[in-house]
Amino acid sequence: MTFNVLISDPLSEEGIQPLRESENFTIVMETNLSPEELGNRIGEFDALLVRSQTQVTRELIHKATNLKIIGRAGVGVDNIDLEAATENGIIVVNAPNGNTNSAAEHTMAMIMALSRNIPQAFHALKNRQWDRKKYVGVEIKNKTLGIVGLGRIGVEVAARAKGQRMNVIAYDPFLTEEKAEQLGIGYGTLEEVLKKADFITVHTPLMKETRHMINAHAFEIMKSGVQIINCARGGIIDENALYDAIVSGKVAGAALDVFEEEPFVDHKLLELEQVVATPHLGASTIEAQEIVAIDVSHDVIRFLNGDVVKNP
Ligand code: NAD
Ligand code: MLT
Repeated sequence: MTFNVLISDPLSEEGIQPLRESENFTIVMETNLSPEELGNRIGEFDALLVRSQTQVTRELIHKATNLKIIGRAGVGVDNIDLEAATENGIIVVNAPNGNTNSAAEHTMAMIMALSRNIPQAFHALKNRQWDRKKYVGVEIKNKTLGIVGLGRIGVEVAARAKGQRMNVIAYDPFLTEEKAEQLGIGYGTLEEVLKKADFITVHTPLMKETRHMINAHAFEIMKSGVQIINCARGGIIDENALYDAIVSGKVAGAALDVFEEEPFVDHKLLELEQVVATPHLGASTIEAQEIVAIDVSHDVIRFLNGDVVKNP
């Protein structure tokens, strides 16, 4: 029996080697399909492998009459309609561990870029402006980093921030006093963390409970001059409220890797000098992309060959 696998987002070529090397698998890599084209083709496939770009909607799933498994090469499954997949007997697997380190490193890079105005100063220098006064930054040593969501990435960010001599406090509904003590960090309610932090970084999944959890009220109770980092998911922070909080001077700066609508080229937040941004690059390292693609490839092979795999 031969299984047809469609890869609809760019995945690491090394990472998908296990699939290419499996005799009973035919791999089609088509990473520029429009939603209509994808809808017209999806019926041919037993497995679909995606990153975060392909939107696996209920409508697409209804057209996927042969689909048995969707592999998400990464953590977030918010681009996949899990309910529709389950209703249609399609299993969804992700690769939750492979990009943790890269996402944590990217978060630290964003904190450093933000606190020292590195992207803005570089941009000015490229435009032949040597301005040392304008780009005076702040040290992060002894500042308080508030982490909202202390899962795999949050924990790694906490360890790195402690290495930079930051004080770390976190809010996570599953965080206990004992765990916080073990990690050498403080913990509090969301409100306490928002009130105490000089830098706030979010690391929750995007779900209905976390959508816009950082909203106008949240900005209101934060310290004046707070800096915000989002390398998790667009939508956890209300972008309009963030814009207003920066313009009003309440928020001194924001470093954003993810946005409510992706991809885009124009965004009002990018018009603000206080905002530094990357186009969803948190997991974009050679290492992470290889690991996540290997992990989902193995899951797809195992599942289609009748073995057991774990659901996210
Ligand atoms: P994880 O599941 O290990 O951790 C998420 C944590 O959020 C959990 O500890 C959970 O208890 C906590 N949480 C859930 N609801 C919460 C709430 N209402 N308030 C506070 N905390 C809450 O996930 P992870 O692997 O650490 O990933 C974190 C986020 O980063 C996800 O959104 C993921 O999609 C995203 N991510 C982004 C990139 C990128 O390229 N920018 C890369 C990897 C992961
Ligand atoms: C993830 O959730 O794993 C990230 O968004 C990384 C990605 O695949 O781009």
